[in-house]
Amino acid sequence: MRPTYAVTELLGDGIGPELSQAVHRLSQALPVQLDFVPVDFRLESRRARGRAIYDEAVESITATRVALKHPTTTAEESPNAILRRRLDLSVIHRPVYTIPGVPTNFRRELDLDIVRIATGGTYDDPGRMIGEDGAVSLRIVERKPVNQAARYAFNLARKTGKKVTSSSKYTIQRATDGLFEQITKEVAAQFPEVPHSVELFDAMLGKVIMAPEKFQIVLVLNEYGDFLSDMACGLAGSLGIGASANLGFDAAAVVRVALFDAAHGTAPDIAGKGLANPTAIFLALSLLLYQLGEIATGQAVKNATLGLLRQGVRTRDLGGQESTDSFTEAVAAEIARHDPRQDGPPGEPAPGT
Ligand code: NAI
Repeated sequence: MRPTYAVTELLGDGIGPELSQAVHRLSQALPVQLDFVPVDFRLESRRARGRAIYDEAVESITATRVALKHPTTTAEESPNAILRRRLDLSVIHRPVYTIPGVPTNFRRELDLDIVRIATGGTYDDPGRMIGEDGAVSLRIVERKPVNQAARYAFNLARKTGKKVTSSSKYTIQRATDGLFEQITKEVAAQFPEVPHSVELFDAMLGKVIMAPEKFQIVLVLNEYGDFLSDMACGLAGSLGIGASANLGFDAAAVVRVALFDAAHGTAPDIAGKGLANPTAIFLALSLLLYQLGEIATGQAVKNATLGLLRQGVRTRDLGGQESTDSFTEAVAAEIARHDPRQDGPPGEPAPGT
């Protein structure tokens, strides 16, 4: 019996249906069973059902605790922003790494886990004019999301044997960034085995470029995380093939709900043509499997996908010849090939040989 998990699947626009099909096909090759609970998040459904569709999504995600979201057209509203608010998704985990075979201007290897507080900073207040020639806005740092993000980052470090760097401008933004670093230090004290260092954010940007191997898990406030993610993706050459986890926590700072998505949008220019690259949604699925505790299966999805890219098995956007379907079949076959269930007992020939 395969272990079974319910997963809310938010159906999207453009290439969304093709990606959904690819995920379902890949899931058949996994040693776990994912029971997808679909929520129709396509634009026409959102327009027709308004608030009710968000209620349905929130109810389903609260029940299943994990969700996979396909890209959605941003029209009257930003579905991502609404879900973030309704589910209180206060932290974003964005792994960014160089992918072998993906062309990049950067020659070094990069492997960062960016843990970003997804609320506050300078992004919650659009600001206001003071007279005609001045403007102000509030910068907000709150204990709760910083504590949640720090706990998540240090737990991740504990599980993976990695180290944590917290980064801010605490020498200038003494109150806000000072509070962030103070809370981080308090959390770090509960994880004495995890190495923790503090870097000024501007200096760190330079160091990530000069010596990327020095950084593993980086914990940052909202806007810094925004800047760092895009810079790191640019260095990794993978603006469109990243994935992230959006996390909501309970009172004990344990992950309560997690929503996984690809970084790219709906790609309307190639929708319905079989050209969509499913790499990012597969990497999102891999993160989802980690969250379910299915570490080996999550790793298998990631390794199979990246391994094929390394061998030159790629979709057209990466200079290859594969269609969405043929790439998906190749990943599924690769996973099946390495699945321990397919092998006979050690020392005995595999069935059928
Ligand atoms: P986009 O990421 O959809 O497309 C940019 C370029 O990358 C296009 O040439 C597209 O064909 C290509 N591309 C993107 N994903 C691809 C994939 N998986 N395989 C192959 N090629 C791919 O960004 P754009 O055009 O700015 O946005 C289109 C729509 O998507 C907009 O309505 C936007 O609001 C929405 N969007 C939604 C997001 C989400 O739901 N998470 C994130 C970003 C944009």
